[in-house]
Amino acid sequence: MAAVGDFEPFSRETLENPYPFYDRMRAERPVFEAAPGVFFVTTYDLIHEVLRDTERFSSARGAAFLNFQGEAGLAPPMAPSEATRAIFARGVPPRDTLLSADPPAHTRYRSLVNRSLSPRRVAKLEPIARQVVTELIDGFIDDGRVELVGQFSMMVPLTVVAITLGVPRSDLQRYKEWSVKSVAVLAGRVSEEERIEGARASVELQRYLARNVEAARADPQDDLIGDLITAHLRGGAGDDDHRELDTPEIVSILNQLLVAGQETVNYLIASLTLLLLRNPEVLAEVQADPSLIPAMVEEGVRIESPISALGRFVVSDTELGGTALPAGSRLVALFGCANRDPKRFPQPERFDIHRENLRDHVGFGAGPHYCVGAALARMETRVAFEELFRRLRNLRLAPGNDFTHQYNFIFRALKTLHLEFDKA
Ligand code: HEM
Repeated sequence: MAAVGDFEPFSRETLENPYPFYDRMRAERPVFEAAPGVFFVTTYDLIHEVLRDTERFSSARGAAFLNFQGEAGLAPPMAPSEATRAIFARGVPPRDTLLSADPPAHTRYRSLVNRSLSPRRVAKLEPIARQVVTELIDGFIDDGRVELVGQFSMMVPLTVVAITLGVPRSDLQRYKEWSVKSVAVLAGRVSEEERIEGARASVELQRYLARNVEAARADPQDDLIGDLITAHLRGGAGDDDHRELDTPEIVSILNQLLVAGQETVNYLIASLTLLLLRNPEVLAEVQADPSLIPAMVEEGVRIESPISALGRFVVSDTELGGTALPAGSRLVALFGCANRDPKRFPQPERFDIHRENLRDHVGFGAGPHYCVGAALARMETRVAFEELFRRLRNLRLAPGNDFTHQYNFIFRALKTLHLEFDKA
């Protein structure tokens, strides 16, 4: 496998602290062949070029996700085993709707989902998010300590999205297990047993969502599922124009909202908390003036990049930044690397909530696949910190933290974060 300097691209050490490796690549090999046929794209400008050009760089065939196999690197898309194929055959038939579609099909679905997660819809969800956050804080505030990931940051998006998708409280535990297991197989290092478990969980979840969709068809509400049921897909030919979505299409969309919307926000809240504790002057500033929280969230997305990498495949022979790319190669857009490009963000390692170009980061992607849940993610994270700051004082690290991240190529995910605090 190729290396830059002493860095092994997929080793635990590199992934734990990728920033020196990123700096080296950006400066020396902006398009870097990390494994045969797998190219890392590292600079801010080149990543923009890739994300905006869907004709040359496709998201189809599941290109966004990479089969990360630890020290062995990135594998070509892995064929499902006989066992997982048999399990998926019992699920809802797959449809390429958002992350795995290219325009023009992507555009048709995307315009419907844009409406479902519009500022109006997100504003309606804010009281729900605040209620969820309040109840979670109620659950640990008298202890004076909390393991933030398990007790809070993971539960905030999970519960908000579950309520949004009409999952009753009594089903929350089941739903949590399915969604955690089905997300886990996407990006981590997984054995065949875990793959089978993940497939089972995905299928249960798909069927559960399909039942919710079917039940809601009788009486669609003014909510996310109701929107998708009553929406009309436009821009197709013949019978495909101006038609309603079928259940597999709606399930595909809901599934992606769930997968993309859950772990990301969890990781953002956790790593942003650690970042604040390591930058006490910023913590003091935002506590004193909560109107700065949105800027803090934005800078947190840039500096931590909870999704650090996603892929594309090269449609036909082309070049990028002077590097020849054969058709069929895979590109890996390193969002976390672009977000620390010093040409775009001077002193990129500084957690500076007053940067002029705060929102220029690519932590939510760019171009047609720009995160459709960005407004929801911003709202959930803002509300989480508004309530944490209001109710907890003297937030500090508890003994016993090791600050390690999951061994995962796509997500930047703190495993745990133990905190202590005083009650306000
Ligand atoms: C901090 C939190 C989040 C981060 C860092 C994040 C990041 C991203 C990124 C980088 C992309 C671009 C994918 C690509 O180019 O292939 C994306 C797309 C997407 N995100 Fe997010 N996301 C977050 C939260 C959410 C939430 C809360 C939801 C929904 C509930 C969501 C749903 C989606 C969906 C469905 C897509 C695919 C959009 C498309 O293909 O058109 N995300 N996100």
